[in-house]
Amino acid sequence: MAQAQPNIALIKYWGKRDAALNLPVVGSISITLDALWTRTRVAFEPGLEQDRVSLNGRSDAAEAKRVSACLDLLRQRAGVNWRAAVDSRNNFPTAAGLASSASGFAALIHAGDSALRLNLSDAEKSVLARRCSGSAARSVFGGYVEWAHGKLADGTDSVASPLLEADAWPLRVAVAITSTAAKEVGSSEGMRRTAQTSPFQSAWIETQEADLATARAAILARDFAALAAISEYSCLKMHALALAAQPGLLYWNGASVECMRRVRALRGQGVPVFFTVDAGPQVKAICEPQAVEQVKAALRDIPGVLDVVETGLGAGARNLTEAEYTA
Ligand code: PMV
Repeated sequence: MAQAQPNIALIKYWGKRDAALNLPVVGSISITLDALWTRTRVAFEPGLEQDRVSLNGRSDAAEAKRVSACLDLLRQRAGVNWRAAVDSRNNFPTAAGLASSASGFAALIHAGDSALRLNLSDAEKSVLARRCSGSAARSVFGGYVEWAHGKLADGTDSVASPLLEADAWPLRVAVAITSTAAKEVGSSEGMRRTAQTSPFQSAWIETQEADLATARAAILARDFAALAAISEYSCLKMHALALAAQPGLLYWNGASVECMRRVRALRGQGVPVFFTVDAGPQVKAICEPQAVEQVKAALRDIPGVLDVVETGLGAGARNLTEAEYTA
């Protein structure tokens, strides 16, 4: 049994150099959250004919297929072909742009590793989680995390590693939910379309190293203004890249744009807050702890904002006891 939490990229991942292995064309930097989680139990049962997968109490054929493919990586490592019973639940809406696949696959790899007594290192778990869902590589670790794009064809060097513990710089995050519909174009398809048609793809790749260096330095120096500037820049650059695909990828709705404007207006008044947006319409506002109530109130006030969820930064994937799992 294991728990993992979603992460939010500040320096974005967009584009794959190998789609089968989920190898990214660029490195990325994220924060792992604490209030949102996936809890997963994996039991390998030699008698089972096929994997039995329950997600939030329901079975879904497409999701079960991804889970089985992910378990195959663990079975290969262990040299077994036992099927497994998997039970997994999230305490937040799946597929609403809150990266449930990142926490989901990080928790699955962690729980599967324990069930098979593989004793994989965190780096090895990160590599396997990446193969199941790219951004899951980062949820193996807590706090501030960097995922290297790596150079090797087999992807063994495309692994995440921690930059700074959550407690060392405990920023808060207010997530403005502006839609609960599943996204129109998933990230894999969006990345493929962008790489094939966006004229900005090469500029995106060329400029990423400098952004990573700036963000890394801002995090290590706990320099909020510097992290705010580079994070909004990376987010808007990723969306500009995707907007220029054919047909263009427009992940925002009107409320998303208003949230971004409001965050910038607050920052103009001296409030330490910045935004980031992934491949969906939710806006994540990252702020210093003393500003969080004001930020939440400002976002709640915007027409089209359905809810605002607050979270801090949290730990990486870890084992749970039975009591913790059922709590
Ligand atoms: O690995 P995926 O499919 O969750 O893609 C993540 C893409 C973004 O969320 C837009 C950026 C990122 O780095 O998380």
